[in-house]
Amino acid sequence: MSNAKALPVPPSGAAADWTIPQDWRRYTPAEHAMWDTLFERQSKMLAGRVSPTFLQGLDVLRMSKPGIPDFDELSERLHKLTGWTVVAVPGLVPDEDFFRHLANRTFVAGRFIRTPEQTDYLKEPDIFHDVFGHVPLLANPVFADYMQAYGEGGLRSLGLGAIHRLARLYWYTVEFGLIREDGDLRLYGAGIVSSYGESIFALDDPSPHRIRLDLKRAMRTRYEIDDYQRTYFVIDSYEDLLRQTLETDFAPLYAELNACADLPVDAILPEDDVITRGTQAYAGAMVAAPKIKSAPPIEAHL
Ligand SMILES: [Fe+2]
Repeated sequence: MSNAKALPVPPSGAAADWTIPQDWRRYTPAEHAMWDTLFERQSKMLAGRVSPTFLQGLDVLRMSKPGIPDFDELSERLHKLTGWTVVAVPGLVPDEDFFRHLANRTFVAGRFIRTPEQTDYLKEPDIFHDVFGHVPLLANPVFADYMQAYGEGGLRSLGLGAIHRLARLYWYTVEFGLIREDGDLRLYGAGIVSSYGESIFALDDPSPHRIRLDLKRAMRTRYEIDDYQRTYFVIDSYEDLLRQTLETDFAPLYAELNACADLPVDAILPEDDVITRGTQAYAGAMVAAPKIKSAPPIEAHL
């Protein structure tokens, strides 16, 4: 996770690359129980809804083992599969450090876990979002390569004024992406799969648009930070996502995008490959009656 609001230098106790020890032994029984509750609820909900690749990741990383995962143990398994490791950070880290970690196949994760009162809404990603949501797909070699390519693209984008474009790409793929597998839409974005409400909404609700991913289109599109998305972008395969990313020359694309207006969250363009044209009824209801707004999804920062 990264954010422009991160402190400019690592806080005391953190290394120069912002990492801190996970201190796994310091988790309390209540914190482990919170993980188990969230894990059980999401695993049941995701059966038949999430990309099978995600479930394979949970399985090969043995993430169903009760309690909060120990990053050393998890990293050992993950490293053997794809060369990635998981490290703890104290909170939001600057963009450059975040990109550098991804480029080096290191995934930075929060080490705190939400309280029972925060079960359905958090302002900052916790260990459940970061580890349950993000890590299973890192066991897949193609997605693992995509995340590295994204980090490398991020480092190259520094100084080009294009961080917000890359943030949108991350948002609409890594955090809120859908995939079409064997003709069915499935979830894969970490912001969806770690949120009970959005796991249903993103797939079943008639409100949001679902549009085939085009990198340039996604990078022009604003996004909702603290509510369900009005548009989800759908990939054909992880291979296609990686291919589009590797084949795109981002520097001229940024220049091209600077000449285009940003698109609102609910836009549909004539050239869009629309899979579902949403009613946008959910968003309309929220504007008309904000007091009945249901618990928003967990906010997942870039
Ligand atoms: Fe995230």
